Amino acid sequence: MQSKPMNPRHFISLLDLTGEEFRHLISRAIELKNHRDPDYQPLKGQVLAMIFEKSSTRTRISFEAGMSHFGGSALFLSPRDTQLGRGEPLQDSAKVISSMVDGIMLRTDKHETVTTFALHSRVPVINGLTDQQHPCQLLADMQTYFEYRGDIKGKTVTWIGDGNNMCHSYIHAATVLDFKLNIASPPGYQPLKAIVNSAGDRIRFFDTALEAAKSSDLCVTDVWASMGHEEEQKQRECAFKNYQVNTAIMDAAHKDALFMHCLPAHRDEEVSAEVIDGPQSVVFDEAENRLHAQKALLEFLMCKK
Ligand code: CP
Ligand code: NVA
Repeated sequence: MQSKPMNPRHFISLLDLTGEEFRHLISRAIELKNHRDPDYQPLKGQVLAMIFEKSSTRTRISFEAGMSHFGGSALFLSPRDTQLGRGEPLQDSAKVISSMVDGIMLRTDKHETVTTFALHSRVPVINGLTDQQHPCQLLADMQTYFEYRGDIKGKTVTWIGDGNNMCHSYIHAATVLDFKLNIASPPGYQPLKAIVNSAGDRIRFFDTALEAAKSSDLCVTDVWASMGHEEEQKQRECAFKNYQVNTAIMDAAHKDALFMHCLPAHRDEEVSAEVIDGPQSVVFDEAENRLHAQKALLEFLMCKK
């Protein structure tokens, strides 16, 4: 008989959280950031397995450092070097890996890989990015907004660019934290209808980036070609050429609007160098907050109370 019971709490999507839980994670992340106590090791001896089908700088380092701060450790697993890459069934892999570790983080191409893993895992599964969602990034983005401006409830956020995994997680965040989301995406690159519909009238679509940015409190964008779409780069450069966040866009937003980007960024493609390196940009706080927000998440999911 396996020693761990089933039914752990997973973090696959922001919709797995209530508004209260999301706000708790943000305030805990801010607390952990401001009062680092090296003796606080709530995950002492625990192990997080991290499966990366795609590249990563921030996600890998923040989870690895976070586990280490909490007295635990993290294993980096690439499908290339494990039996996953040779076709071992996901459910078998999930059963085996979860019998040996205390949490599993996955970055995969297909969203279904993470949901299947979660179905068969005895330990919490965390979505570290899929083709459909990037919920961990939103924990950090929202922490950053709260630090600079307070609660985001009722505010207006503008998404400019690809209706991709980040855009979908912004739609989910708008639902859970109750803010308005303006979206300007080129035809053919809109977010998935099912995700948009789940957010009700909080989401509004605009034909131009300039219209979408009007009266906004936060402007956000992401690369035009996400991982897995690199071969479409040229075609996307044409489709997205009117969707750059530049000074004209930031001038249309509120005077104190912030700019965010999950990084890595391409200067003078989706965002002008002037904006990303300018005074309204908080991208490096946002990147650092991946560490603090995920420590709050790891504590929330893995700490045995
Ligand atoms: N923003 C983000 O997830 O970065 P990495 O791809 O470097 O992990
Ligand atoms: N949308 C981007 C985010 C990278 C962190 C991608 O999926 O490549």
